[in-house]
Amino acid sequence: MPRNPDSGDPVVFHGMWTRCTAMKRVFRLVERAARSEAAVLLRGETGTGKELAAIALHRLSPRASGPFRAINCAALPATLLESELFGHVRGAFTGAVRDHPGVFRSASGGTLFLDEVAEMPLDLQAKLLRVLETRTVVPVGGRDPIRVDVRIVSATHTGLRAAVAAGRFRADLMYRLRVVPIFLPALRERPGDVALLTDRFIEELNARGGRRVRRVSPHARRLLDRYPWPGNVRELRNALEYAYVMGDGETLRPDDLPPEVAVGTPETEEIHAEPAPPGQLGASPSSEADLVRDALRRAQGSRGLAARLLGISRVTLWRRMRALGLS
Ligand SMILES: Nc1ncnc2c1ncn2[C@@H]1O[C@H](COP(=O)(O)OP(=O)(O)OP(=O)(O)O)[C@@H](O)[C@H]1O
Ligand SMILES: [Mg+2]
Repeated sequence: MPRNPDSGDPVVFHGMWTRCTAMKRVFRLVERAARSEAAVLLRGETGTGKELAAIALHRLSPRASGPFRAINCAALPATLLESELFGHVRGAFTGAVRDHPGVFRSASGGTLFLDEVAEMPLDLQAKLLRVLETRTVVPVGGRDPIRVDVRIVSATHTGLRAAVAAGRFRADLMYRLRVVPIFLPALRERPGDVALLTDRFIEELNARGGRRVRRVSPHARRLLDRYPWPGNVRELRNALEYAYVMGDGETLRPDDLPPEVAVGTPETEEIHAEPAPPGQLGASPSSEADLVRDALRRAQGSRGLAARLLGISRVTLWRRMRALGLS
């Protein structure tokens, strides 16, 4: 831990770098909470480091030698989520050809990380609450409760209170999960961190080889500083990787940055959600064709890499190439 937690010095805590006082406070809370068995709820926008914080909580806890298991409550349909959480017995449903322990049992003796917990369907919330109260699970299709011993860490990008007010989340479960709430501030609210993380990520990229970036031009720094980073640290890392591959030479320049960063306007959710090309492919077909051609050239013809450079999926790239007559 940092000697001068409020001095603005850079510190690293379990892979998380910061200069910012609020983040340093988060590290101290994580350290303290780790010593206890209390349920921790991590709240923060996407890419702020919730998963890293959850792993730190586990590693610093007396359960560190036990397993760490994570499950994303938003990624699975309700029935699948139930059997992933609590397990199922053979024959419980079509396709259940063997017993499945579920994460509560496989995390026993360790930590279970419930990611995007606000998205859990209400009927599962009731079952989860019972598991937490009785410290036993009944697998889907089973009868006998099985003892489990897990420490719960959960994460959410939205406030649970709002979900409770909207009738989408049980208040009693919220209180159980949120014994120690920890809020991770957004990157744009962390003075000094964009510059610090930019340097860290460039060091990492340099170590991987390829290009050697020795400086970031003042204009590029200003653009990085001004951009609101809706995807937080993850988006910053991706933007630097993009710049690293798109540019040449020892200086990272504004032209190397992803268009949305250079222009200062983040892509909207709709654009992210859509399979169609994101905003960074230019508006006019000829410039879009240039971008795609350029990416393919830099990727030496590898469509997978070209797609990554453009921040789109392979399928989208293929569709765009076809539409632009490039295939
Ligand atoms: N302070 C930090 N220093 C260095 N890397 C960081 C920091 N915070 C986050 N990262 C990196 O940013 C990425 C996103 O972090 P993480 O997965 O923990 O975010 P998250 O809050 O769980 O995001 P999501 O809500 O989208 O799941 C990871 O690659 C992580 O290593
Ligand atoms: Mg996460």
